[in-house]
Amino acid sequence: MMSQFDNVTMAADEATDCGFGESAPAPRARKLFVQSFGCQMNVYDAQRMTDLLGAEGYVEAPAAAEADLVILNTCHIRERASEKIFSELGRLRELKIERAQAGAATQIVVAGCVAQAEGAEIYRRQSAVDVVVGPQSYHRLPELLRRAERENRVLDTDFPAEDKFDFLGLPAPHQIRKRGVSAFVTVQEGCDKFCTFCVVPYTRGAEMSRPLGAIVGEVAALAAAGVREITLLGQNVNAWHGDADGSPASLARLCAAVADVPGVARVRYTTSHPNDMDDALIEAHRSQAALMPFLHLPVQSGSDKILAAMNRRHTSAAYIALIEKIRAARPDIALSSDFIVGFPGESEEDFARTLALIEETRFASAFSFKYSARPGTPAADSAQQVEEAVKTERLARLQALIESQRQAFNRAMVGRTVDILIEKRGRHAGQIAGKTPYLQPVQIDGDASLIGSVVAVEIVATGANSLFGRLAQSRPEPVQTMRGSV
Ligand code: SAH
Ligand code: SF4
Ligand code: F3S
Repeated sequence: MMSQFDNVTMAADEATDCGFGESAPAPRARKLFVQSFGCQMNVYDAQRMTDLLGAEGYVEAPAAAEADLVILNTCHIRERASEKIFSELGRLRELKIERAQAGAATQIVVAGCVAQAEGAEIYRRQSAVDVVVGPQSYHRLPELLRRAERENRVLDTDFPAEDKFDFLGLPAPHQIRKRGVSAFVTVQEGCDKFCTFCVVPYTRGAEMSRPLGAIVGEVAALAAAGVREITLLGQNVNAWHGDADGSPASLARLCAAVADVPGVARVRYTTSHPNDMDDALIEAHRSQAALMPFLHLPVQSGSDKILAAMNRRHTSAAYIALIEKIRAARPDIALSSDFIVGFPGESEEDFARTLALIEETRFASAFSFKYSARPGTPAADSAQQVEEAVKTERLARLQALIESQRQAFNRAMVGRTVDILIEKRGRHAGQIAGKTPYLQPVQIDGDASLIGSVVAVEIVATGANSLFGRLAQSRPEPVQTMRGSV
C-alpha cells in the first residue's frame, strides 16, 4: 500500500495537457508543477490547488524545470520531513536563476504544514520563495500570486473565518479521470486532541467538519467521472459530525450517504482516533457492504505510562478491548496502526509492552517512526529524551515484527477468491493492477477494459509488496477472521 508519507508528484503524465484551462485567455498558458509531501490530505490539497489554478488558466508541467509556478506542499510532522523542504528549495533557487537567465520568470510557493509552522522564517532561510501559504488559506492562491508579481514575499498563514472549501469549486471531469478510479475527499480537518508529540493541531488548526451535503456533492462529481472508491480523509476522521435530514449525524451516517451515490462501490476512511470509534461506526462495519474491512487505527505505544505522557487518553487494554469489539462486528477486518518508538521516557520495558500489544493484536501493516522532537510541542521539552541509537534499534525490532505479521497476512490470502477493484494497467503488458478490500495491491493478467470494475480474483501467489491473482468465475468466498487466518 502507498505509504502515507511517500512523496507524491502531481505532475501531468503528458506535457501537452491543455484541457483544463478552458477559460484561459492568455496567449501562452502558464505552467504549474505541484509537489506534495506528507499525508494523504496533502495529496488531496495539492489536487485542489491544481484544480483552482486550472480554472485560472494554468496547465500542468511534467517537471519543475518547465514550470512558471512551482508549489511545494509541505509536511512538518517530523524534523526530517521539514528539513527536506529546505534542500528542495535550494534546488528550486538554482532553477529559478537558470530560467531567469533564459528570460523566464518562476514563482515559488511554499504551501502546507511547514508554511503554517515556519511562516516568514522560510524567506529568511530561502529568499527565492515568493509566496508562503498555509493549509487553511490556499483558496486565496490566485490573488496571492497576483500580489507576488507586485510585492516581494507574500505571506498568508491565517486561519480565515471563511471556509476554503466554499471557494474551491469541483474538479473538472478530465482531471478526475486522469487521477484514477480511487479518490480522496477531505471531510474533517484539524485536531483538538493535542498529543504531546504532534504539530498537527498547530499547523491544521481546530477541528472542523465539512457539511454532509457538500461532501456528497463532491463525491457525486467524482463518481460521475468514473471514480469507484472514495477514501474520506480527516486528521481525526471518525470525529466527523454533521447534520443529515435535520438530525445529528456521525461518520457511520456519512459513509452510508457516500455509498449511496450512484457509481460508488467502495468507501474507506482515515485516520481514526481510538477514542472516537463510536458504536454506530463499529456497527457500520457489520452492516454496510461498501465499507471496506480495513481500519487504520493508530495506537502509538503499548505502554500505559507512555500513552499517558503522550496525552492519548486511553490505555493499552482499552485499545485491545476496542479491537475485540470491532472484530466481533466484522471478523475479517484487517488492521493497521502508527507507532512511535523512543518517545521521551520510554524504557525497554515500555517498548516491550508495545511489542506485546502488536503480538496480541496482529496487524496487516503499520507505519512506525522514531520520535522526533518538534518545536512548540510539550514532549520536545522533556528532559528524558531517548538516545538516537536506542531509537534506531527499537525501530528495527518493531518493524521486523510488523513485517512478519504483514507477510503472514499476505500469505494467508493465497487460495482465496476476493473482490478486486481494478485501478490501472499492471507492471507488464497484458497485466492490470488493483486492490483487495484489505488494501493489498494485486497484479492480475487481464484486459485494461476492466479498469474501474470490481472483479472476483483468485490469489495465487505473494511477492515482496504485491499479491498475484487470476480472474475467477466464482464469487468471493465467505469471510475468514484475520486471527484465524494468520
Ligand atoms: N491524526 C492521526 C495521525 C497524525 S500524524 C492520528 O491521530 O493518529 C501521523 C503519524 O505520525 C502519527 O500517528 C504518529 O505516529 C506520527 N508522528 C506524529 N508526530 C510525530 C513525532 N513528533 N515524531 C515521530 N512520529 C510522529
Ligand atoms: Fe496529532 Fe494526536 Fe491530533 Fe493525531 S490525534 S493529529 S497524533 S494531535
Ligand atoms: Fe504532515 Fe501536515 Fe499531514 S504535518 S502529516 S502534512 S497534516
